[in-house]
Amino acid sequence: MPSPRLSARISGIAESATLAIDAQAKALKASGEDVIGFGAGEPDFPTPGYVVEAAEKACALPLYHHYTPAAGLPELKSAIARKTERDSGLEVEPGQVLVSNGGKHALFNAFSAVIDPGDEVLVPAPYWVSYPEMVKLSGGTVVELATTEETGFRVTIDQLERAVTAKTKMLLFVSPSNPTGAVYPPEEVRTIGEWAAAKGIWVLTDEIYEHLVYGDNRFSSMPVSSPGIRDRCIVVNGVAKSYAMTGWRIGWMIGPPDVIKAATSLQSHATSNASNVAQAAALAAVSGDLAATHEMREAFDRRRTAMHKLLNEIDGVVCYEPQGAFYCFPSFREVLGRTIGGRTLHTTLDLASALLDHARVAIVPGEGFGAPGYARLSYALGDDDLTEGVSRIADYLS
Ligand SMILES: Cc1ncc(COP(=O)(O)O)c(C=O)c1O
Repeated sequence: MPSPRLSARISGIAESATLAIDAQAKALKASGEDVIGFGAGEPDFPTPGYVVEAAEKACALPLYHHYTPAAGLPELKSAIARKTERDSGLEVEPGQVLVSNGGKHALFNAFSAVIDPGDEVLVPAPYWVSYPEMVKLSGGTVVELATTEETGFRVTIDQLERAVTAKTKMLLFVSPSNPTGAVYPPEEVRTIGEWAAAKGIWVLTDEIYEHLVYGDNRFSSMPVSSPGIRDRCIVVNGVAKSYAMTGWRIGWMIGPPDVIKAATSLQSHATSNASNVAQAAALAAVSGDLAATHEMREAFDRRRTAMHKLLNEIDGVVCYEPQGAFYCFPSFREVLGRTIGGRTLHTTLDLASALLDHARVAIVPGEGFGAPGYARLSYALGDDDLTEGVSRIADYLS
């Protein structure tokens, strides 16, 4: 029998649900259709001017036309160390920083550096689509911990206790969360960190939305509140969400020196350094102040309030108030089973497809986030589009 054309490891990987819906919506738009996209996981603002200028200058300098060390420009690693202490209070050496092609690449490196086949990784659900696939690519086993509105989409110590086994290697932690917008209060972050330290398991904590927190909610960094985990803790962050720089592809991981060394070796063979010019842009971003970030946050906060209210006004839609990031994650479970225009909505996959076909609105079905019955709607879009898009959903479902 001929051997399969594709490796078993890669054949088992699902396409990113978020990128798939975004591509469909963009294709419809390109063909002239008036589509409102709630799928995007990126700020709708341009990158701040001073960051673009730094990149323009770098483009003109031959110094930036060449490879950098695989782990990144030394001055960028120092600036990331300073920025980390400023923003989260975590003190790290530049040598504990590995700069990669976006937070996604940093996460991939981090899982690859620590997870062996057979290791179990605790992944609270709803989860960001790429976490489980990355765990699987490392040979690890995903142990899903389902959460609902009842606990504010936050995992509890009881759940963690019930799920932990002798094979548990790591807990994946993210706050603010994509897709739910949940933010763990500082005391819960500390308790979970202390629990992980006592169990001797790793924590991979994704801090990419650290600055996008609203109302009285506060971001808190686990290795700061629970220093006992520092020797087994990896922090992932990047410029994408805080500085509207998704396309520049700069993210990083921060961790104990042995893990950074191992992940740097991996990256040196896989991709070498992240784009030199993009690193120059990231250097300007993290060395500057947070004025542009705070301006975006204000706009997101306004849209968050509007979208949360409008969604809850739709019969059959229940939306928990997001506390961070830029997503609403409403439940459409009461809508499922309805037949609209001869089409029965059995699942949120059906609903997303029907909304794109009949209302020209793109939402991301919860199935990809381990949460069928829900959907993710980004509020990183203009206020008028937001209102029009939600009213199209309301009209379709009425
Ligand atoms: C929770 C989370 N982590 C990491 C990333 C990766 O960000 P990037 O690779 O654009 O830096 C994203 C992007 O959507 C995200 O939502």
